[in-house]
Amino acid sequence: MSSITGKAPSVKLPPQIGTARALLREQLARLLTVEETLAKVTLPQLVLELEDEQLKQAVSSHLAETRGHGGRLKEAFLALGELPAGRPALGLDGLKAEREVTSPDLTPGLRPFNACVSAMGVEHYEINAYEAAIRLAGSTSGAKEVTRLLRATLEEEVAALQKLGEEADRISGQLD
Ligand SMILES: [Fe+2]
Ligand SMILES: [Fe+2]
Repeated sequence: MSSITGKAPSVKLPPQIGTARALLREQLARLLTVEETLAKVTLPQLVLELEDEQLKQAVSSHLAETRGHGGRLKEAFLALGELPAGRPALGLDGLKAEREVTSPDLTPGLRPFNACVSAMGVEHYEINAYEAAIRLAGSTSGAKEVTRLLRATLEEEVAALQKLGEEADRISGQLD
């Protein structure tokens, strides 16, 4: 006689996120994890690793801005009447995993370029997440201040992507 033990009955819960406001809260939570991970782990580590002085400078200056991005998100939560809380950011984890898989195969001469385009990938990811959040805030009543805060950060992300793009052009011009 066969029996299935330890298997939870599959209960289908109805969808829990049903409004622009609720989805905005989820998006802010994901962004909070992204910004805190970037400010506390990813970018400081990258600054330490980089040997190309000009690229190191560009990443350091965006690290300083990134420290303010988490603060703006916390203000956005409070402006919505919510307590700031993070949630997993699987896209950021994926970008990190991709870089870790690729880097060991590269000769040292190619690593600054790889680090630069990986950093650009993170900026694209952030820009997409902020653009989604700004649209959701536009559909949420009483979220004008949230929109203002998100737009201020989006401007810095776009400028960082532009700067990193210039660095990628410079570095790729030096490759064999
Ligand atoms: Fe950011
Ligand atoms: Fe950024």
